[in-house]
Amino acid sequence: MRIGLLGTGNVARALAQGWSAAGHDVLLGSRRPEERTGLGLPVAGLSETAAHAQVLVNATPGTVSLELLRSLGAAALAGTVLIDVGVGLSDDFTELSHPNSSLAEQIQEAFPQTPVVKTLCTMDSTAMIAPDSLDGPSTVFLSGDDVEAKRTTGRLLTDLGWPASSQLDIGGITTARGQEHFALLFMGIANGLGSHTFNIKVVPRPAA
Ligand SMILES: NC(=O)c1ccc[n+]([C@@H]2O[C@H](COP(=O)([O-])OP(=O)(O)OC[C@H]3O[C@@H](n4cnc5c(N)ncnc54)[C@H](OP(=O)(O)O)[C@@H]3O)[C@@H](O)[C@H]2O)c1
Repeated sequence: MRIGLLGTGNVARALAQGWSAAGHDVLLGSRRPEERTGLGLPVAGLSETAAHAQVLVNATPGTVSLELLRSLGAAALAGTVLIDVGVGLSDDFTELSHPNSSLAEQIQEAFPQTPVVKTLCTMDSTAMIAPDSLDGPSTVFLSGDDVEAKRTTGRLLTDLGWPASSQLDIGGITTARGQEHFALLFMGIANGLGSHTFNIKVVPRPAA
């Protein structure tokens, strides 16, 4: 599958490496591709990356993602599955930029022809592509209104090492706010643990 990733930071590079290793055709999208040589991954401009993508991943700072996507234009994104990993946080990680909503909902509203799926934003980039490196199975969440886009995303998660049993579809795109707002608790856990490399696991009651 042709996967475009907007951003060349920790998340974009990790996911590109993970999906490249699984055999996908990945392309990183940068505002300044000429300055992003030596990443060991192909890099292009943002528009070229969007045009390349069957699935496009937003891995840019959540505070600017909507503006960046708007600059690409709705026509460029129409029909493309958009996996949104972004979270809008203040520089000191204490305030959300979309406190009574979510970035993913706002992207979906702005781009109705682009099915948006929120996932992976509840963990560190190292855990995103190496769930097996943690001390036992954990949970990755999916939020989105489009069933087929969530199926596609689920397959791509499997390619990163997330078995179906670790994937939890929590509902429509409005549930993305739960994933994004978890960032505040994530930072607290990271402080308590002294590490960002952890994940949460949903532990249901045993079946009767
Ligand atoms: N790091 C994590 O473990 C983690 C975990 C969960 C969620 N997230 C979320 O995932 C997104 C990406 O995180 P990250 O850690 O990969 O961030 P990062 O290392 O700061 O990279 C963000 C990338 O976005 C691009 N970008 C586009 N517009 C930008 C702007 N106005 N200012 C700065 N960068 C801009 C930059 O690439 P170019 O300069 O090449 O254009 C930059 O490399 C964020 O929304 C973050 O909250 C991160």
